[in-house]
Amino acid sequence: MSDLDMEDVALALVAPSKGILAADESTGTIKKRLDSIGTASTEDSRRDYRELLFTATGASDYISGVILYDETLRQSSGTGTPFPELLKANGIIPGIKVDMGAKPLAFSNGELVTEGLDGLRERLSEYYSLGARFAKWRAVIAIKDGAPSQYCIDTNAHALARYAALCQEANIVPIVEPEVLMDGDHNIDECYAVTETTLKSVFDELYKQRVVLEQMLLKPNMVISGADCQEQAGAEEISDKTLYCFSQAVPSAVPGIVFLSGGQSEQQATENLNVMNQQGKQPWEISYSYGRALQSSALAAWQGKPENVAAAQAAFLHRAKLTSAARDGEYNA
Ligand code: 13P
Repeated sequence: MSDLDMEDVALALVAPSKGILAADESTGTIKKRLDSIGTASTEDSRRDYRELLFTATGASDYISGVILYDETLRQSSGTGTPFPELLKANGIIPGIKVDMGAKPLAFSNGELVTEGLDGLRERLSEYYSLGARFAKWRAVIAIKDGAPSQYCIDTNAHALARYAALCQEANIVPIVEPEVLMDGDHNIDECYAVTETTLKSVFDELYKQRVVLEQMLLKPNMVISGADCQEQAGAEEISDKTLYCFSQAVPSAVPGIVFLSGGQSEQQATENLNVMNQQGKQPWEISYSYGRALQSSALAAWQGKPENVAAAQAAFLHRAKLTSAARDGEYNA
């Protein structure tokens, strides 16, 4: 693949039938995933697991880009090919998570702000030289006990915009991820209100900080009921409220919206994406940047055993194919 400019990269990431695999779990998060299958988290086991995903033959029919973690960007396959090179050779664009995680926000009631701006310009320059052409920064907004505060939303939005501007300066497409968590017993309308307020603050900051909207992607949550809410909204309501929310808050210059799965089951995340893509043409491409909803079955099939690699790859390809169909509104449950 020859080098593309940022608008081309953003469009390639949301090409028809394709979306992003989020395989950028931090060392702490991947440990939790590996613990769930009774596998020790070591540099080698993390490498073996990521290699399994990246070498699944045919994945590039469904996967346009992969978000890597710092350690993974520097790792190589068993045969010695650096992962970014291996992905690129398969027509998949390598990306990199660049935030340093959500930390307690001073003077708030237990809210979080994402850190990682110090030294980011230098890190982006190195990531570019290692092959990364897009990046991700995740802000976390929780709904609970009177939260989120406007203070928390605005502080995270400001950091997201600073990150996005630095990315574009480095010729790297920023994925801007303000995640309103689905944890809690709030209903879908509370999620709607917080998501709309958050997106408005994020785009206000992106505008103030001169971020070029054509050269970025938005990675939001869907507007959805809290995981512990008694009344769970169905796919039609989720689709209607999510698309309406974006119509109010996301400029049409943004080329694509790539959802996170956020703890939805693989089936839910696929079904909801499918219904949204059946609503006709939107101002933005509607696609995916799933972690758990693309990986859960593969992880369970693998169990950390070399003899299960083929079964794990088959499970991953199956989910990727269904998610790709949903991205085109052609998924049949
Ligand atoms: P999930 O799809 O598992 O939410 O992960 C996507 C992601 O990258 C969250 O930052």
